[in-house]
Amino acid sequence: MDSFTDLSSSTELKKTKRLHQYMGALVVTLLGTASHGAMAACEYSVDNSWNSGFVASVSVTNDGPTPIDNWEVQWQYSGDSRIVNHWSSDISGDNPYTARNAEWNGSLQPGQSVMFGFQGTSSGSAETPDVTGALCGGGSSSSSSSSSSSSSSSSSSSSSSSSSSSSSSSSGGSAENLYSLAAFPIGVAVSAGNESRSFLDIAEKQTSIAQHFSELTAGNIMKMSYLHPSEQTYDFADADEMVNWAGANGIGVHGHTFIWHSDYQVPSWMSNYSGDFEAMLNDHVSTIADHFAGRVESWDVVNEAIDENQSNCYRNSLFYQRLGSDYIAQAFTVADAADPGADLYYNDYDTEGGNSEKLDCLLQIVDDLQASNVPIDGVGFQMHVQIDWPSTSQMRTAFQEIVDRGLKVKITELDVPINNPYASTPFPQYTSYTAEAAALQKSRYKSIVETYLDVVPSHLRGGITVWGLWDGDSWLLDFDEREGADDWPLLFSGPSNGPYEEKAAFDGVAEALTGQ
Ligand code: XIL
Repeated sequence: MDSFTDLSSSTELKKTKRLHQYMGALVVTLLGTASHGAMAACEYSVDNSWNSGFVASVSVTNDGPTPIDNWEVQWQYSGDSRIVNHWSSDISGDNPYTARNAEWNGSLQPGQSVMFGFQGTSSGSAETPDVTGALCGGGSSSSSSSSSSSSSSSSSSSSSSSSSSSSSSSSGGSAENLYSLAAFPIGVAVSAGNESRSFLDIAEKQTSIAQHFSELTAGNIMKMSYLHPSEQTYDFADADEMVNWAGANGIGVHGHTFIWHSDYQVPSWMSNYSGDFEAMLNDHVSTIADHFAGRVESWDVVNEAIDENQSNCYRNSLFYQRLGSDYIAQAFTVADAADPGADLYYNDYDTEGGNSEKLDCLLQIVDDLQASNVPIDGVGFQMHVQIDWPSTSQMRTAFQEIVDRGLKVKITELDVPINNPYASTPFPQYTSYTAEAAALQKSRYKSIVETYLDVVPSHLRGGITVWGLWDGDSWLLDFDEREGADDWPLLFSGPSNGPYEEKAAFDGVAEALTGQ
């Protein structure tokens, strides 16, 4: 709508979503169901609210025996609540509001749900109006509202609905908003820009991400070659689009990453650079940090600088070759100067305890940085783990070492494949996603999150990010060692354009976060 303007700054929204996490979700639901002949259950939920605004969503579930082709629902606020921004539906009017399906989500099979969201302003507490419309029973519904302090199964306590379950409550006991169960960021890596399966091209992805996650990491598009394709050119367009979407949805962004050795990521102009390498690299870090300052809450400043097979622990990367180990400290110092508000992490893989040489190297590097007063805030453990490696006690040890140094611990790239190519048993151990595999994976995800909560005190919890939304998005599917084997490493299953379904692994994370 023309009258819609995005009134809220991304920073404010980010804070509010965080505040929401700290308070626990106050999810208020109200079911408007048909008295007679209606085909859908229409549910309005306040997902987040603060002094001057709110984020809410409406779900429409086809309760009838026949498919719905197009849907349209209405609601009206009795106070001064007004919508300023919306997604996943076409909203018109100015109280009352009418929402019609977007082009891609008009058809609802029996039992299927659609959810759309919006952000609004209001001077009082967020309202939960009746959702009306021919499909929902035209407002003649009986309804009741309820609130709960935890969002888990929040809709279970509401109303007289005869509806079948909505998509988010269909797996029984699972969280309405995963992020609201944690007082720290719950993140997900996304494809964006020109990548295939960009979340910005798939509305259902946006819906699931906004529903469950409070932080985004770019799986690729904020790496060196994407942002800095030639010496004089920075290309921020794709990353800005992603970061702006996050801001508009009250979601934070973890930046990944200023410096990474990986061949395909180091732009060739940089590999061949013959000028002042140190000045060039400082400029790289500083320009990017400055561009995103205030919109990115934390950064992987340097990624994967360790090679535990080198006697001094440093990977013999382009950066090491040109500048020695000093490039790491420099990058933190420069990033801190450009964006003093962001948390700065050193990020690496296999440091979570199973490889003790690598953990030793990590600690040596961190100790050196701290001894030189380098502004490092935390350590990112990628945690591309196996179903059975490393052990929980090894993870415990690794996290504890970082906690002992007063630094934040962030799980930055978590995935838990079912099959382990390095195990002694024949690979793949599972050729289909059986109930046994699902249970195994659930308990593994659960124990990882429990270990994190157990060892890392709340003020040092930088968050937990999973490396992709649903199984078909996982980078592991292209991994050489796994070639030819299916796997199911993430928290949601497909289909590829959604709606995405919460797996047992999701329940494992939710249970750990709620102490079940
Ligand atoms: C991966 C991406 O997921 C892939 O799409 C890409 O082809 C290679 O990089 N550690 C990291 C991430 O820090 O940047 C990597 O991401 C996965 C391993």
